[in-house]
Amino acid sequence: MKSFVVAISGASGSIYGIRLVRELIKSDIAVHLCISDMSFSIIKTETGTDLTGLTIQETVEKVRTYFESDTISYYSNGNLAAPISSGSFRTDGMFVVPCSMKTLAGIANGYASNLIVRAADVVMKEGRKLVLSPREMPFNTIHLENMLKLSRMGVTIAPPIPAFYQKPENMDNIIEFVVGKLMDTAGITICLKGGMEL
Ligand SMILES: Cc1cc2nc3c(=O)[nH]c(=O)nc-3n(C[C@H](O)[C@H](O)[C@H](O)COP(=O)(O)O)c2cc1C
Repeated sequence: MKSFVVAISGASGSIYGIRLVRELIKSDIAVHLCISDMSFSIIKTETGTDLTGLTIQETVEKVRTYFESDTISYYSNGNLAAPISSGSFRTDGMFVVPCSMKTLAGIANGYASNLIVRAADVVMKEGRKLVLSPREMPFNTIHLENMLKLSRMGVTIAPPIPAFYQKPENMDNIIEFVVGKLMDTAGITICLKGGMEL
């Protein structure tokens, strides 16, 4: 069974990370999920789902219920001893969706002070697939330099930019398109409801 780490960091667009987790589960891919502290409050603001103020065990249970999956693993961002912190724990790669400029900077500079950045560090050192979806507007030179540095190392930089040639009718169509493109960059193909294969 394939497995991917999914990190949801504190940028706007947490719904993309949530939808990505759902699509990976639907594709029978095991998910190791980590959510940054700031992302918990953004998820609450943007989607109404409240995962704040829970113990780790309660969060694990709520995540499993929310994603209707008994197999999803969840780790706290402060848990640097989690399995995904080690290169000997094999996965097929990692998505950071959305990726905040702070998490981007941490990854670009090897500053592994939390599990998300450490897991990305591990994925890079082991030569596995790393897909970042940086979200900010506009980008400053530091953001762009960090992206360029990572791109030169083989990291996929895929901002959540929608296209309009598939004539989206609602927000769900836009989310589905972006998530489909993200999965495509990691070699996972999904069929859009509209029938267009990415
Ligand atoms: C509502 C809200 C939206 C935010 N959106 C973004 C964003 O789109 N991009 C970004 O880089 N930071 C954004 N931030 C700021 C980050 O959350 C902040 O820099 C945080 O320290 C990131 O930490 P993390 O990467 O560990 O999640 C946002 C903050 C809030 C409260």
